[in-house]
Amino acid sequence: MEKLILAIETSCDETAMCIIDTNKKVYAHVVNSQAQAFESLGGVVPELASRMHVDNIFYVFLETLQQANVTIQDIDYIAVTTGPGLIGSLLVGINFANSLALLYNIKLIPINHMQAHIYANSLTTDLIYPHLALIISGGHSDLVYLDKPLHFQLIGQTLDDALGETYDKIARLLGLSYPGGPIIEKKAQLGTCEYQLPMPKKDQSLDFSFSGLKAACYNLVNHLKMKQQDININNFCASFQNTINNILLYKLQLALQQYDVKQISVSGGVSCNQSIQATLKAHFDNIIFPNKALSTDNALMVGLLAVNYLNNNQAIFKKQLNALPNINVEYQWDKN
Ligand code: KG4
Ligand code: ZN
Repeated sequence: MEKLILAIETSCDETAMCIIDTNKKVYAHVVNSQAQAFESLGGVVPELASRMHVDNIFYVFLETLQQANVTIQDIDYIAVTTGPGLIGSLLVGINFANSLALLYNIKLIPINHMQAHIYANSLTTDLIYPHLALIISGGHSDLVYLDKPLHFQLIGQTLDDALGETYDKIARLLGLSYPGGPIIEKKAQLGTCEYQLPMPKKDQSLDFSFSGLKAACYNLVNHLKMKQQDININNFCASFQNTINNILLYKLQLALQQYDVKQISVSGGVSCNQSIQATLKAHFDNIIFPNKALSTDNALMVGLLAVNYLNNNQAIFKKQLNALPNINVEYQWDKN
């Protein structure tokens, strides 16, 4: 008999819920994004994000139950993102989950948001191991090695800015709106790589660094402004996009020299970028990407991770949870 899971995600600026069963049948998938509210502000304002989660969460819950045509009494487990993320945002989803679990006597499954991004790729097929996962999101840029299911080893991470954050900051520098990734991607398609940008951390380390590239972009723009020269935004975006493609390709090739893997997955908000996808697909034939709705934050990836834990008999059950805003992809809950 399949079990029914209500999954909840509120780690940043999406209030999202889904209902999925242990056979990966999806009954409901609702994402309420606050991105539009932050468009003119250039990024997420944490206090506003948590307030908006409070306003939205009950309606997202009702819509999710309605879409699935079930009641809360039909739910066997609640899986909720517990970290990493913005503490105020996380607490809204966690507190909602805690209350439902207490009222209806439902088991809670804590979810690591970074692990969930990886398992967004497991909707239609299981991942193949040994597996290399590249997570590129607004808050993280991680390379993760999995020798077997649900066994995460962080082998590379950003030493400064995350990749999505870099897209967002460069967009702001160019006077483009938030989130920066989609708009830079669009403009890059119309431009040519006219500007010279440095490729940071072209060394033997699997870590990333994007602050040097960001500084070079700021310097170039300031230099052009001082010389009263116009910046060709499309060409600038094309040059930036091309540099990012080269960095990701270089680091994945380096990781493959050190780790024997059967499959590579890319996930996180930046992974829906078509230029990145085309570059990496041209070099690796065993590489997978989630569909667009599963690349940016959503609750289906939270549900999918819970399904993987349950089906591997590795799920941890809790009666009550609290936020862990700073955990990394390796963090696992103990049984107590
Ligand atoms: O995974 P995500 O939804 O949130 C976090 O967990 O951080 O990622 C959001 C990030 C933003 O920085 C946004 O600019 C970036 O993903 N992004 C993109 C694209 N779409 C979203 N970056 C590059 N190209 C895109 N098409
Ligand atoms: Zn995320």
